[in-house]
Amino acid sequence: MTFSKRDRLRLLGGAAIAALAACGGGGGSTPSPAPSPPPPPPPPPPPPPAVNILRDVYAANFPVGAAIQASQIQTATEDRAILEEQFSSITAEYEMKPDIIAPNQGSYNFAPADAIVDWAEANNIAVRGHALLWHQTTPDWMLTGMVSDIRDKLQQYVTDVVTRYRGRIYAWDVVNEVASDSAGAAAPYRNSNWYQAVGGPEFIDWAFEAARAADPDVKLFINDYSTEQSSKRARLLAIVQDLVSRGIPVDGVGHQFHLQINADPADALAAIDAVDALGFGLENHATEIDVSVYSDPAECFSSGVNCQSSYGTRASDVPDSIYAQQAAIYRGLFDGFSERDSVTSVTMWGVQDAQSWLNNFPVSRNNYPLLFDPSRNPKPAFLAITDPDYEI
Ligand code: G3I
Repeated sequence: MTFSKRDRLRLLGGAAIAALAACGGGGGSTPSPAPSPPPPPPPPPPPPPAVNILRDVYAANFPVGAAIQASQIQTATEDRAILEEQFSSITAEYEMKPDIIAPNQGSYNFAPADAIVDWAEANNIAVRGHALLWHQTTPDWMLTGMVSDIRDKLQQYVTDVVTRYRGRIYAWDVVNEVASDSAGAAAPYRNSNWYQAVGGPEFIDWAFEAARAADPDVKLFINDYSTEQSSKRARLLAIVQDLVSRGIPVDGVGHQFHLQINADPADALAAIDAVDALGFGLENHATEIDVSVYSDPAECFSSGVNCQSSYGTRASDVPDSIYAQQAAIYRGLFDGFSERDSVTSVTMWGVQDAQSWLNNFPVSRNNYPLLFDPSRNPKPAFLAITDPDYEI
């Protein structure tokens, strides 16, 4: 039988009156009753539900990070509070990319990146650098001129950026998304603006060698998406095999792991195992995790057609069964990461659902792919990876 707070107060009040009556009950005339004592103070409110601290749960395994934007940490936002409480690593969602740091040749805009790194250091949060080279965020000036000019400009940019943050960043995504999505002419390389301007993949060597020369200690990664798909993974690992076998200083592979609600965590873990099977002792970072609440066909990504309809604009519009499915995927991922020593960093691509890039990709549609909802409440996915007793 449970008692409400009001019941408890009634009981306490009743007991107090009975006790007083007993004290005043002796022989002889009954004295006039003493004034009733003030009611006891209400019991303290029940403690908030226990919320385990994400970074503490995995402290022995790897830092747990989130992608953030400078706007989230420059004022006392709810997101900053979550970051400072729950996460032990961060990645700048866009402020450390060449199109932001060096939109024009000869001048750098380090202020947004500096603000992020300064805040992280002040809060004992590690910083993962992303990304020194990415075809989607390459300012035009980097790709003009002779191949030797392009090489010199790339090596100078990488040298300047890595030197600036030397000792303040534990890993860099040196190159991002250089593997091809299909067996095209340039395969296994993406036939990107870089590949075309240089006439081949040598730019990858240049970037890694310049980064290593600028910082002998920072871990250098090649980062890509869809490594959970065996065909894309095979092309990426062919590139990794070539780089490492030629002595290019690659320390690890970054797996973005942008997954859908029909994903099987085993496919993502197979990507980790495939890197381990190369036998180079490389590290694995999960770099941009999110689990879309939708399951879209290929044409949705290629042409924006036949995409699953939106569940709605409120987090509560998504069926509980979908959040349960999402929680199971997250638990499968984090359990598997924890069992693999080569996994040395795990990063969510955002703190809470409202900031996710997936609200605009592959179509404009409310998505809820992260650990905290738009109201900054922990979701079943958060509970599933922080409380082993949580029943999904
Ligand atoms: O809001 C700012 C504005 O204040 C600023 O002046 C302006 C400067 O360009 O940028 C605006 O922000 C935009 C930002 O997203 C926040 O919405 C940037 O224009 C825009 O380029 C940026 O897009 C990011 C994109 O990478 C390109 O950098 C996305 O946030 C980010 O989620 C996305 O992340 C990529 C990974 O780096 C690589 N893997 C895929 C992933 C998703 O595309």
